[in-house]
Amino acid sequence: MHRVFATRRIPQEGLAILEGKCHLKIWEEDVPPPQEVLLEEAAKSEGLLCLLTDEVDREVLRAGKNLKVVANYAVGYDNIDIEEARNRGIVVTNTPGVLTDATADLAFSLLLAGARNLIPADGYTRAGRWQSWGPRLFLGQEVWGKTLGIVGMGRIGRAVARRARGFDMNILYYNRSKHKDIEEELGVQKRELEDLLRDSDFVSIHLPLTEETQNLIGAEELSLMKPTAVLINTARGEIVDQKALVEVLQDKKIFAAGLDVFAKEPIDPQDPLLSLDNVVVLPHIGSASYAARQKMAIMACSDLLAVLEGREPENPVNFSGLQE
Ligand code: DGY
Repeated sequence: MHRVFATRRIPQEGLAILEGKCHLKIWEEDVPPPQEVLLEEAAKSEGLLCLLTDEVDREVLRAGKNLKVVANYAVGYDNIDIEEARNRGIVVTNTPGVLTDATADLAFSLLLAGARNLIPADGYTRAGRWQSWGPRLFLGQEVWGKTLGIVGMGRIGRAVARRARGFDMNILYYNRSKHKDIEEELGVQKRELEDLLRDSDFVSIHLPLTEETQNLIGAEELSLMKPTAVLINTARGEIVDQKALVEVLQDKKIFAAGLDVFAKEPIDPQDPLLSLDNVVVLPHIGSASYAARQKMAIMACSDLLAVLEGREPENPVNFSGLQE
């Protein structure tokens, strides 16, 4: 039987696919296995089922002398050294599509929460500080009919654009390539990043983390945004220069930010970001719906088993076809 190491217990609907076909060892803790455990288990396994919290680097892949497949329980795979895996003939798979709507819903929740001060207003009410209806109490920004700038028009960017249409928003997007189909479907318009930042009331990031996108939104880019604008990030924290973001939020150079992702996760409890009222912070829960997580588990395990059984996986990220 194929030896598989899973770095966390994922939904049973996925794991059931491996039962009876693999010798499955699961790391049962709620935190990732230490790197030395990952190295040790990679050395013994043919399949690795991992999470975005596992650093599947060159060392791990080199240790995995018998590794055939790394199935990432995520759509993003910046935690894996893809080049090294390709050089070693190890197939890497991910989980695209099934978490698109869950993540787009969360991005929109952050947009609304940031625009209308939902979190501080909730805290204020719970704390018993509400004394009277107030004409200036928690004034926020309107969403209906405003301009949304989508940075990255992939699956999730498009899903956010569809939601924005329901709010009659004017939609701009920044992307390497032009997407005529979505321009025609939703009337979205492509812009240079600087123009998008200048013209948008809301900016939502939907790019993968790569060398090109790391710190794409830095101090200079943030300085272009409107003082009434809200920045939303459900992609990867390192796409935004977090220090620069803290400064613009502190100085009220933008209205708010809604963040599900951070440069370092989990965020340090002492991080200055956490002392600010004009930021909504979530613990990377974009795909955290029951349905999405179940589909991700099925997808990751099906692809893992496919490679181990010599079949074509549905979602390889580093090979277009099955390797000999
Ligand atoms: C992903 O899949 O990349 C998300 O960040 C977590 O589901």
